[in-house]
Amino acid sequence: MVDVETFIPEAKAEIEAALGDETAIIALSGGVDSSTAAALAYEAVGDQLVPVYVDTGLMRKGETEGIRETFSHMDSLRIVEAQDRFLDALAGVTDPEEKRHAIGEQFIREFETVAKEVDASMLVQGTIYPDRIESEGTIKSHHNVGGLPEVVDFDGIVEPMRDLYKDEVREVARELGLDSVVSERMPFPGPGLAVRVLGEVTEEKLRVAREATAVVEDELEEADPWQAFAAVLGKATGVKGDNRVHGWIVAVRSVESRDGMTARAQALDWETLQRIQSRITGQLDSVSRVVYDVTHKPPATIEYE
Ligand code: XMP
Repeated sequence: MVDVETFIPEAKAEIEAALGDETAIIALSGGVDSSTAAALAYEAVGDQLVPVYVDTGLMRKGETEGIRETFSHMDSLRIVEAQDRFLDALAGVTDPEEKRHAIGEQFIREFETVAKEVDASMLVQGTIYPDRIESEGTIKSHHNVGGLPEVVDFDGIVEPMRDLYKDEVREVARELGLDSVVSERMPFPGPGLAVRVLGEVTEEKLRVAREATAVVEDELEEADPWQAFAAVLGKATGVKGDNRVHGWIVAVRSVESRDGMTARAQALDWETLQRIQSRITGQLDSVSRVVYDVTHKPPATIEYE
């Protein structure tokens, strides 16, 4: 386990030395990794760091407001409203890898615009150890901000947490005094809700995934899984009131893991599962069915795409 008391000053010194007088930029996703890296770098260099949060429209409920609040002390914070541009870029795209690619490309465009505006020559990234392993194995085209260094042409990249595991990052976050909403938040993929709605990304599917995920997170707070969420799989027949409806099938996923590289489906009790089912179908008229995913990783992945 990392010794945070030595790690933090060392990481800050590394960031300071790497930046010198240059301006650095970091992509904030709202997740624990990028938030912790940003907090660490901001403590080290203040407004010389420009944290950029791109609202892709693929974020969890309350994520943008949370960022605004948590990082309100950072004068240099930039929030880019890009929801429409991401939806346009994703229109008609159904292949999972193409979806990731479209999101990655759009992200680079948004990020590059800000990097040029603030004349940033350095990039800080919240890359952690498992990211590097999965990318090397090309298990998937891993979208954090992969591709940024080649496209934006930075003079240097600083990855202060490159050797840490997720639970170690959380320790660092706690030590830095980051809000527990951030430090204890479940992992969230770079492409966001797009990998939790199968097929084409539409506003309607995103809304269902977002609202259902909020229910899952709320109901499972006590069960304390490593990661839990809802995904939109497709449509199935159901009965609502007196009518037969063709509604969404929502899958609930809750897993235990250390680093996301392997995972076990969590053994939830029946009452909890039923409460989740009844809240989701009650709250969302367009959902006709809720299923619980009992598959471990492997053979499944944690996300659906
Ligand atoms: P999978 O679905 O491959 O996910 O079992 C393992 C862990 O990684 C997260 N994940 C991603 N994180 N960019 C990320 O930053 C991505 O493209 C991405 N895909 C999956 C996933 O949420 C899980 O925690």
